[in-house]
Formats: sequence, C-alpha cells, structure tokens
Amino acid sequence: MIFDLFDNDYDEDGFRTCNVTGMSIHRSVENPVKVFGLTAVVALVVGGFFAIGVALTRWEFVGLLGPEEFYRWLSLHAWNLLIFWMVFMEIAILYVGGPMVLGRRLPIPKIAKVGWGTMVTGALVINYAIWTTEAPNQAPLLTSYAPLPSSPYFYAGAIIFILGSVVAALPFFVSLWQEKSWGEGGSLPLVTFGAFVTSIIAVEALLGGLAVMVYAFLWRIEILESIDAAVYRQVFWIIGHGTQQINLVAMVTVWYFLTHIVGGAEVVSEKVSRTAFVLYIFFINLGAAHHLLSDPVVSISWRIWNASYAFYGATLASLIHAFAIPAGIEAGRRRRGKGGGLFGWLTNAPWKNPVFSATIFSIILFGFVGGITGVVMGQVQLNMTWVRTLATVGHFHGTVALGTTIAFMGLVYFVIRTMFMREFRFGRLASLQPYLYAATMTAATLMLMYIGLLYGVPRRIHSVVRDIPGTDFSLSAAEPLMMIFGPFALLAIISGAAFVVVALASVLFGERKLPGSDLVPDEGVEFESDEPVHKFDMRGTFVITLIFLGAFIVVYIANWYLLSQLWSIGP
Ligand code: HEM
Repeated sequence: MIFDLFDNDYDEDGFRTCNVTGMSIHRSVENPVKVFGLTAVVALVVGGFFAIGVALTRWEFVGLLGPEEFYRWLSLHAWNLLIFWMVFMEIAILYVGGPMVLGRRLPIPKIAKVGWGTMVTGALVINYAIWTTEAPNQAPLLTSYAPLPSSPYFYAGAIIFILGSVVAALPFFVSLWQEKSWGEGGSLPLVTFGAFVTSIIAVEALLGGLAVMVYAFLWRIEILESIDAAVYRQVFWIIGHGTQQINLVAMVTVWYFLTHIVGGAEVVSEKVSRTAFVLYIFFINLGAAHHLLSDPVVSISWRIWNASYAFYGATLASLIHAFAIPAGIEAGRRRRGKGGGLFGWLTNAPWKNPVFSATIFSIILFGFVGGITGVVMGQVQLNMTWVRTLATVGHFHGTVALGTTIAFMGLVYFVIRTMFMREFRFGRLASLQPYLYAATMTAATLMLMYIGLLYGVPRRIHSVVRDIPGTDFSLSAAEPLMMIFGPFALLAIISGAAFVVVALASVLFGERKLPGSDLVPDEGVEFESDEPVHKFDMRGTFVITLIFLGAFIVVYIANWYLLSQLWSIGP
C-alpha cells in the first residue's frame, strides 16, 4: 500500500500531464513533494498534540502542567509546529515552484533524499533533547536564549536540521540554473520567481541560524568559555524571524498558485507582483529587529531605523500582494462571466472546495489578524504594550497558526487530490474543516491578544491568575477572557486534528481517481472575453481594501489609546 502512494501513470520518460494544472510532471519531483508533505503532516500531529498541554495549562481553570513540564511541552509545541511543520512544507513548495512548474526532472535527486534524511535526523535529535531535558539544562523554548543553557544535543540537532534544509534546497537551485542555461530564455514564471525569492531569504536565514547554533554549541560543550547574550540575540533573530519570513514568502507564493488554479485568478500586473517580491529581499530581514525593540543593548536609532522605517518596505510588499491577489481573482472571474455586482465574483466562488476556502481564509486572516497587529507592534512605542505578553503570542498565531498553517493545509488538500489522486474521505468534513479551524483559531488568537494587551498577562509562564511567586500582584481580572480562550483553543486543536484525519484517511484509504473538474474554476468555463485582464472591474477588491484600511486605522488608534492609559506623564 505504501508504494502505491508513489505510483502514478507516467510515460516512458517518467513524465505525466496533470489534468488540473496542465503541468508536465516528472516522477522524480512528485515523489519527494509527497514525502516532504507527509513528513510535515507528521510534525503537525506532534506539535498539535503538545498544544493540548500548553493550552490546558494557560487556561488556568484546568491548569494541567506544572512549570517544568509546561516549558518542555511549550518547546516541543514550538519546534514541531513553527519549524518542522513549516520547513518540510517549504522544501516541498520549492520543488513545486521550481522543477515541477518548470516541467523538469528533479536534479540531483539523491541529494534531496540526503537532505530529507538529515532534516528528519535533526528533528528527532531536537525532540529527544527537549523531551529528556534535565537540570541544569533548560527546555529551550523557541529562542533558546543564552546564557540559559539547553542540552548540547539540542544545539547539535538544530545544526543538523539547518544543514539538512540547505542540502534539501540544493536541487531547487540546480533546477533554476538548468532553466537559465538550457531553457528558452525569458522570465521565470511568477510562482517560480516567488519560490526563488523564498529561497534567497531562506539561505540568509539558515546561514544566520548556523552561525548562532554553532556559537551556542561550542559554548555548551565548553570549547568557548562564555557566550555574549546580546550577540546571541541579534544573530538568533536572523533565523528566528528569518524562518517566519520564509513562511510568509512561501505562503504568498502558495496564494498566487492556488488562487490561480482553483479560484481562476489572473495576475493583473506581473511587474507589480514581482516588484513586491523583490521588496521582501531588501527589507524583510531588517524587520526582524522588531524582536529587539525593547532590548536595552541596541541603540534607539538602530531600532527605529530597522523596525519602524525599513520594515515598512516589507509591509508595502505585503500590501501590494494583499491587493493584487484578490484583484486577480476578481478580474479573472469577471472575465469568465462570473462577476455579478460588487461581490458576486466572491460569493459565487467554490466555497465548498477546501483548497479554495483554505486559501481565502489564509489571505483574509493573515491580513486582518496577523498582518495589522504585526505592523502595529513593530512600531517602537507601541511595542512596549505587546512585548513579552500573551498579545505577542496572539500576533504570531495570527500569522503562522492562521495565515501560513491554513494556506499549507489548502496545499496539502490540493496535493491529495492532484498528486496522490485520492478522493477525500469524509468529504463533508473536508469541506467544513477550514471553516472550523479558521473560526476557532481566530477566536483563540484574539483572546490571547486581548488578554495580553488589556491585562498585561505575560507569555511563557504556566500560571499567573492564581499566583505570581513572590508578589501580591493579581492578574485575576483576565480570568473571564481566559475562560473564553480555553474552550476555543481546544476546539482549534480538534479542528486541526480533523484536518489530519481527513488528510491521512484520504491518502491511505481514499478512492483512487483522476482529479475531477471540480478543482478548476467553474468546472473549466472558458473566458468570455479576450480583453486583457486589467481591463476588468476590480471595484469589489477596492472596497475590501478600504475596509482593511479602516480596520488598520481603528487598531492603530486603539493601540495608541491603550498606550496612553499606561502611565501619566507630568505631575
Ligand atoms: C492548534 C491550536 C494551537 C493552540 C491552542 C496554541 C496555543 C499556544 C499557546 C497558549 C501558546 C503560549 C504559551 C505561553 O507563552 O505561555 C503558544 C505558543 C506558541 N505556539 Fe501555539 N497554539 C496552536 C497552534 C500553533 C501553530 C499552528 C503554530 C505554528 C505554526 C504555533 C506556534 C507557537 C509558537 C512558536 C509558540 C511560542 C513558543 C515560545 O514562546 O517559545 N502554535 N501556543
């Protein structure tokens, strides 16, 4: 049965033509995409399992774990979800965006296998190191901030995992080089271009990661006598935030890919979209400085330049994509005669198709929940009310647990139908799952933000409502919101589990069938007009953009108001 998963009808040369995308796909690309995708889902299961303990502890009504276990579970939650679930998916995305979209074989396939094996080894070592952490070692959390020591195995595992990711990305780079050397010339397709930008940012992040983990490892095995905490923090965030930038750019690439295939989107202006990708290369890394906005070591001008100015270059890029993608859907659907008023193009879209709904929820929730709050808290003054509180956790669950995770869920659904060639098991649940996860995770995320912002409840602590050791400071006022957070967090975990059940049941037991026309826009309806796509109306998107702008302004003003309430200045 296992080998059956990797068997499609290929011609003598190992190619087949996908009846959904029209792409010419070689066996050597398709199989690694499946393997990396399935490995990512396993990491999602592990990280999701540890979310149970984390959520049931922070929901102090239950208060499941004591401090030691809480940090162990939180670390396993973070590494499996933020790093392994995402990075395995991202390597799959590089293979899709590179050789698959270009219609090539995967170059150096053995290197891809070595990369996968090394990444899996690194992930296992890290899980082992965290699970067996004992004093004086500390569970590393995501940041493994020096000088708190973690197990040397942890740093070794991180180095192995990072090296494995670099190795696994090599076939992608070679495929681009082949395209440039042997191809027909001209620009790379937009999706390949997006994957290429992702890979540039990834290389930068991984090199930074290698530097910081080797530094910490040498200190931990006592080759270096001491470690400079300030240097560690600055270099750490090259990968710490760098991986989030990879997530962001990979996610935007997936948005372009899936909205085009299942939503009928056209790219309204290639130049504008490509320029937005290029902006990421220049500015997004500088934005990582927002993690140090409240650190005393770096100068205030360094902080303001990087976070409050340079970062807006990357924000502009995201705003361009946030406009370009819905505009592409609107114009593309109107071109097929699926317009109808201001929002007809949206309301009559294929909402029952989980690939489509997941992609759209990802776009909306990333923008409204993760994106707006990211820009707000990346501002040097406002950062003070967010940093080190649960509001920060709310923000990044908006970006990665809503935006990226939902987009990647959509991609996995797509791979199940078009590469594993399986019909969904529990079809109704498959259609509903993106709605359930999006709704419940949004509610849990908003609660985290409110709890942090309104009451200043700190992050990374197992209990605050009942006691903060050594103080009589009470945060019990936050309890009602925690009572809302807890049940929604559990429901979000259950909805995530529903995704895993549908995905694995479909892959293993789904009916094997060529994907049907339900995956392509309006069952394959042709364009009604030959007019270029930018001639079509995009007024619906314009209205959505104004709503977004309105939400942005309200959140921005509300945050300044909250800041002004913190302390009074003057006598
Ligand atoms: C399925 C539902 C999820 C729930 C209920 C949940 C819940 C939580 C909570 C309550 C915390 C904060 C703990 C604290 O600071 O005291 C946390 C931390 C975190 N979560 Fe999640 N989470 C979920 C999904 C995800 C996903 C999908 C990702 C990534 C893709 C993720 C990544 C993280 C990270 C990176 C941290 C921070 C760890 C640290 O502070 O080092 N979570 N989660």
